[in-house]
Parts: sequence; structure tokens; C-alpha cells
Amino acid sequence: MLAGGSGTRLRPITHTSAKQLVPVANKPVLFYGLEAIRDAGVTDVGIIVGETAAEIETAVGDGSALGITVTYIHQDAPLGLAHAVLIARDFLGDDPFVMYLGDNLIIGGITDLVEEFRATTPDALILLTRVPNPSSFGVAELGPDGHVVRLVEKPREPRSDLALVGVYLFGSAVHEAVRSIKPSARGELEITEAIQWLVDSGHDVEPHLVTGYWKDTGRLDDMLETNRHLLESLEPAVHGTVDEHSSIVGRVVIEEGASLVRSTVRGPAIIGRNTTLVDTYVGPFTSIYHSCTIEGTEIEYSIVLERATIRDIGRIEDSLIGRDAEVIPSSALPKAHRLMLGDHSRVSVATS
Ligand code: TTP
Repeated sequence: MLAGGSGTRLRPITHTSAKQLVPVANKPVLFYGLEAIRDAGVTDVGIIVGETAAEIETAVGDGSALGITVTYIHQDAPLGLAHAVLIARDFLGDDPFVMYLGDNLIIGGITDLVEEFRATTPDALILLTRVPNPSSFGVAELGPDGHVVRLVEKPREPRSDLALVGVYLFGSAVHEAVRSIKPSARGELEITEAIQWLVDSGHDVEPHLVTGYWKDTGRLDDMLETNRHLLESLEPAVHGTVDEHSSIVGRVVIEEGASLVRSTVRGPAIIGRNTTLVDTYVGPFTSIYHSCTIEGTEIEYSIVLERATIRDIGRIEDSLIGRDAEVIPSSALPKAHRLMLGDHSRVSVATS
């Protein structure tokens, strides 16, 4: 399980925390992956960690709560997906293994894939999905017999619409491949090159087409879209308190200790543990995490992380608001926006 990386596309959230721990539908992305691996019968899990090691270790612990046994493997710098395989050599030994990118989400899990791998024992089984814009992905070309013949990273003129999904199964031959390749122009050991090495040296690389929902949550838009998708199948439940002036419409979860005062939540939406909403409207496709306070605000199609405070701010949409963030009005003169934003923050202020 790869949970290192630099997460540049999700700055500033990733300046201070791991992108794999951003909650979608109030559960960290990483946990969906760990559960998928466990459900496929793989319980011995090595997690590659980088700068955010402490945070990942606190969240996952020894894995026993998830029914897995976890070994942490430290990567000094995010030197590529194939580099992660390289440094996991001792942990992996010669066993076949699943490699899962910690910010990817596959609805429906990977059990079929693991069973196919166990039955056919190729040197690599790669997961592919049809996409409308293959030039943004690693793309696979298949030969007439259905084997993988070529992998191209973000091709300008793609020869197929089959994009690589962030889950791979490998036999022990991949170790020689990751030792044989050289860093790419961006300075990383690329897994596409390692797989191409396997193909070129006569190894058996098989494709497996995913038909279900898959998303790489590495960018804000994709994270909000994944959140939307997961919320759509939420089981409604109210564990918190809802006063007589509040209303809940549609698929909504109100977690324990959460309270609604003169507020409306229109689902699908989830309101986290110990969060308080006062005079607030929460619209569809919104996840508010634990211990937040939102007052006098409308918010929709957004994710709010723990302990954020939002007050009297009008309407918020399409937003990811970080931990302990404060979004509040100012009555001080001169009348102005007063900001303390992390590096790479993005603020779009609605103008009248
Ligand atoms: P990416 O999202 O491809 O890379 P990144 O995390 O560096 O993000 P960005 O492109 O926004 O800078 O990585 C996919 C997953 O693999 C992600 O969970 C991070 C992890 N990873 C590692 O653990 N080690 C690495 O060396 C790299 C490149 C990624």
C-alpha cells in the first residue's frame, strides 16, 4: 500500500497532512483501500510511508482494528512507484503481491482481480479502465491475443483508451525489473517502465478490465467527485440530535454527538461526530467531518475536515476546507478580506 508521495496536486492540504487520510464520506481514502485488500484475503500489508509517516501510523496502527497486520516501510523521498517496490524487497520476499496506490478508490473492491491472479499466476496483472481522455493517464496497448504489449505514460496520440488504474498484482519477476530500470526525466522510477521491462523480456503481463467506479483522488475535483459517489449509497442514520426547528431531507447520516440547531441538511450528506450546525444549510454531496462548527452558512458539494469553523459566510460550494481552518466574517474597519493562507492555497471570493 503506497501512502508516501508528495501530493503536490492537493496542496496546501498536503503541506501539513497526508492526502491518503483526507476523508471521503467521512472515512479516510486509505481505509477504503486497506479494506479492499483485506476483503480480497490479503492480510499481510506493508505500507510505504514518507514525510507523513507519523500521521499514517497513528491512523492505522498495527492494523488489528481492520483485521490486517501492518509493517511500515519508510521511503526517504518520493522517488517513484517502482522505487516503492524496490525498498519493499525484504518485506515482500519472493511472494506474489498486490500494489495499491493509497489515494485510489475502487468501488466493488479487488477480490475478482486477486482471484484471477491466483488462478492464472501471470508475472503481472494490471488493472485497466476505459477513459475518455487517455492522454492524461498511463495507457496500455493490447496485442491481438489480449496480452499487454506496450505501456505509455500520458501519450500525446494514444493508441488505446485503456488507462492504468492504481492497483497492480506482481509475481517476483518485478524485482529484477525495478532494479533494471533507470529514473525517468522527472527523476522517478516509473512502474510503467518496470512493467514494460517485464513485457520486453518475455514475461507474461495480463490486463484486467475494471467496469466499476474508479477514481484517483489526487486532485480536488476528483476528491469531491469521489465523495459525491460514495455519499449516493449512504445508509441514512441519525445518531446525533436534531432540534424541532431543523430538518433532514434525503440520504443523511448524522453521527454521534453531532447537533443541528435551526438547520437543514439536504442529502446525500454526512455530518460528523461532535459537529454543530447552527442556522446552517448543508446541501447535497457534502461531508462535514468531526468536531466542526458551522453557523449562519450554506454549504454544498464540499468536504470539511476536522475542527474547522465556518461562520456567517454566505454560500460555499466545490470546496475542501482543511483541519482547524477558520472561515469567519470580519466587522473591523477598513472593510477588507483578511487572510492567512497556507502556501499554494486557492481562494475564490464571490464578487457581487
Ligand atoms: P501520485 O499521486 O502519483 O504522486 P504524489 O503523491 O507525489 O502526488 P502529486 O502528483 O500530487 O505530487 O502517487 C500515487 C500514490 O503513491 C499516492 O498514494 C502516493 C504514493 N507514492 C509513494 O508512496 N511513493 C512515491 O514515491 C510516489 C511517487 C507515490
